[in-house]
Amino acid sequence: MTMKEMIFSRKSCRSFTGQAVDGEMIEKILSFEPKPLYPQIKVRMDIVGREQVKCICPWTTPQVITVYSEETDGYLENIGFLFQQLDLYLQTLGLGVCWLGMGRMNPKTAEAVEEMRFVIMLAFGHPKGDPLRHDRKAFKRKRMDQIADCPDPKLEPARFAPSAVNSQPWYFVHEGDAIHVYCASKGSMLDIGIALSHLYVTYEDTFRFFRTEGIRDLNGRRYVGSVTL
Ligand SMILES: Cc1cc2nc3c(=O)[nH]c(=O)nc-3n(C[C@H](O)[C@H](O)[C@H](O)COP(=O)(O)O)c2cc1C
Repeated sequence: MTMKEMIFSRKSCRSFTGQAVDGEMIEKILSFEPKPLYPQIKVRMDIVGREQVKCICPWTTPQVITVYSEETDGYLENIGFLFQQLDLYLQTLGLGVCWLGMGRMNPKTAEAVEEMRFVIMLAFGHPKGDPLRHDRKAFKRKRMDQIADCPDPKLEPARFAPSAVNSQPWYFVHEGDAIHVYCASKGSMLDIGIALSHLYVTYEDTFRFFRTEGIRDLNGRRYVGSVTL
């Protein structure tokens, strides 16, 4: 399955065999080069042993992806954008993956990373059982009219994006060829980056993201940027 197709089959995996991912597969993961939303923002990714992190979840994986970033304007959208591409890629390799907002680095065992902020981690590994969805109805998602000012089939990949506690904080408003992207007042910009990455993966050749001066927030929703697809 391609990454583009994976958007409509993926799911967060929370059941793993416990077997470590081998070196060859780790090499593949480390050589995957996702496209950034903001190329100038420095980002660091490591694959570390479970002992280097703390997470109060009832399941675990032997290895975890940890993500650090320079803390600057747009860094959260950038991380969501980059690592959702990796999320899709890992699933095309047959691995299970789950973003872990509740995870933290273990200060006793983790190496210090200078001038960067720890942002988030993703658990990944060999899934126990079938890691995919086989019917779009198995996704719990808002309706199109709850996420956009008018029905637009081109936004379906964004509608299916994962988000922290399934909050789906994105909202899209059309103006000519552009679609302005907003984030609900309590939503995370990381989730917006995730939704944008589904648009990028789907419309790779034509996707363009830009910020337009003078666009105001909308009923408490923050303006994040605009896309053409
Ligand atoms: C930024 C982010 C943080 C998340 N943190 C957690 C987490 O700490 N624990 C967990 O079990 N799931 C976590 N999830 C997974 C979401 O709960 C899940 O994506 C959402 O409920 C939609 O389900 P789906 O991914 O299976 O489609 C997180 C997802 C995102 C995008």
